[in-house]
Amino acid sequence: MNDTSRHLVDLLGRDRAWVNALFERADVLRGLRGTPAAPRPLAGKTAALVFHKPSLRTRVSFTVGVHELGGDTVDLTAAEISEHGRESLKDVAQVLSEMCDLIVIRTFAHRVVQQLAAHADVPVINALTDFSHPCQILSDLYTLRRAGKDLDAMTVAWVGDGNNVLHSWLEAATIFGFTLHVAVPDGFEPDAGLFLEAERRAAVRRTRDPREAVRGADVVYTDAWTSMGHEKDADWRRVAFAGFQVNAELMALAQPDALFLHCLPAHRGEEVTDEVMDGPQSIVIEQAANRLHLQKALMLDLLRAAARGRAKGLAEEAAAAFPAGEAPPVVAAGAGYARRDAP
Ligand code: CP
Ligand code: NVA
Repeated sequence: MNDTSRHLVDLLGRDRAWVNALFERADVLRGLRGTPAAPRPLAGKTAALVFHKPSLRTRVSFTVGVHELGGDTVDLTAAEISEHGRESLKDVAQVLSEMCDLIVIRTFAHRVVQQLAAHADVPVINALTDFSHPCQILSDLYTLRRAGKDLDAMTVAWVGDGNNVLHSWLEAATIFGFTLHVAVPDGFEPDAGLFLEAERRAAVRRTRDPREAVRGADVVYTDAWTSMGHEKDADWRRVAFAGFQVNAELMALAQPDALFLHCLPAHRGEEVTDEVMDGPQSIVIEQAANRLHLQKALMLDLLRAAARGRAKGLAEEAAAAFPAGEAPPVVAAGAGYARRDAP
């Protein structure tokens, strides 16, 4: 994997070995949580948490996760960081890389996360954009595996909007062998390019009929009909999504042991009924709780990747500066403290 392995911007390009290693580490961290043996490898490290949209699960799981691993957090908003704000994203990325060890960002435009990742020396984690929500789906896969589902054999039915969460499911389908049935109404399709790519590489099928998508499925998944940033369209979205509600009648078409998942926040009575949310097939609270364990594992993995990248960079610099057999000169203290862009 190339140098971008220290960031999590999207799931495309990740492989199952990497994801499975996260699951294993998350299991260990879960088991040690709250015990004297709980590791604190982030001691002395600080994560910058940037939120341009509201968040309960993501903000709390990253904040608590960093603290439990021994680190500190600093909260930032659009007042400090934005695409057309006080300074360029390149400058922001470079400054934060000097002061922090990790950047977690939830924002609107996906390119903001891409630009930060392009310029940051420290890991950048996408905590949701208008395009994708990779932390959610990594965590959901972890939840499903823990619930006994076979990630290579299960069928997942997505019912609802062709949104950021679905995009990350489409990307995940290229990593594992599961089948993904997508039921979205006309006009609310996912990104066409990503859908074609997922169709080419994975078992992905689209229908306009939620019943067809759910029939025989092992997992039924839905999300809000109106995502953050689209609130002004909420009324006509309710009309467009009529018939896409996950209710007991729809769940009855899935496998008898099918599970119901929702990334939350849910709008009870809209995309899902109380009966399903609170019913025996729903694992939405465990699903939310797993964000903490999986993201702890993720942060440790990306920090390790960043450290490996730095070590490799230093070794390459040294090899270029001091050809084989040539001893390095004695360097005066502080001599290496050069500007970032010095030749
Ligand atoms: N599922 C999720 O990301 O929830 P929040 O928006 O509350 O972070
Ligand atoms: N699709 C939703 C997900 C919230 C976690 C949104 O973007 O608002």
